[in-house]
Amino acid sequence: MRARLPRHIAIIMDGNGRWAQARGLPRAAGHRAGSKAVRRVVRVCRRMGIEALTLYAFSVQNWGRPDEEVSNLMELLGEFIIREWQEIMDQEIRVVHLGELRRIPGPVREKLLALERASRHHRGMTLALALSYGSREEMVRATRKMVGKALAGKLSRQQVTEAGLAACLDTASLPDPDLVIRTGGERRLSNFLLWQSAYAELVFSDILWPDFMQADLRAVVAEFQRRNRRYGLTGEQAGED
Ligand code: IPE
Ligand code: IPE
Ligand code: MG
Repeated sequence: MRARLPRHIAIIMDGNGRWAQARGLPRAAGHRAGSKAVRRVVRVCRRMGIEALTLYAFSVQNWGRPDEEVSNLMELLGEFIIREWQEIMDQEIRVVHLGELRRIPGPVREKLLALERASRHHRGMTLALALSYGSREEMVRATRKMVGKALAGKLSRQQVTEAGLAACLDTASLPDPDLVIRTGGERRLSNFLLWQSAYAELVFSDILWPDFMQADLRAVVAEFQRRNRRYGLTGEQAGED
């Protein structure tokens, strides 16, 4: 029997800066090479039949980086949207964002929202871009939404449930990630999908993001398929041999 594929893969794309540094190049060159890795990984996931792919592209905390690096990343995002637009249409990919777009420069934000509108009926795969995203910030926003409903008399104490909270998160339209991958060698989540990853399998790869190839993604998925997910039960209950 073929082992199950993850429905939703989420990736912390880390290591662009170190990739550039190792070559004596500016960090911007690492981010540019990183955007090529994005293209490769989107393609392979679509081909494999993955239902949803979330890419952590820019965290709330990344706004604290030097202005020049922040502008460079925003420029690359704008270029990425223009460059990939046709492929996203052809592959029937639905694009959504996670995070608060308010601080994203106007022209880039407009392009992204236009792409989301143009792709909203696509059923090939969902590509979620986590931009100006932080998991704690997202949970605070979700809590505010719920409190707002409660104060308006539209939500009772008993109606505060896991499902209700999940529906107020930016990921409301996505299944929880089954597999969270972090490239670049660090073993941490850096404020990424903390609620949604409660039972995700975590894979940490030492490969720097710009070096991450289609074969590497396939190898991580194969590792996922060898793992036993027990969800708190015994191995026997979870159907292990
Ligand atoms: C990930 O690469 C890209 C972003 C966080 C935007 P980094 O830029 O963090 O690369 P390192 O960790 O410095 O190598
Ligand atoms: C996490 O990488 C954020 C993204 C990949 C967008 P960072 O490089 O910002 O994380 P830390 O600083 O190592 O925790
Ligand atoms: Mg980093």
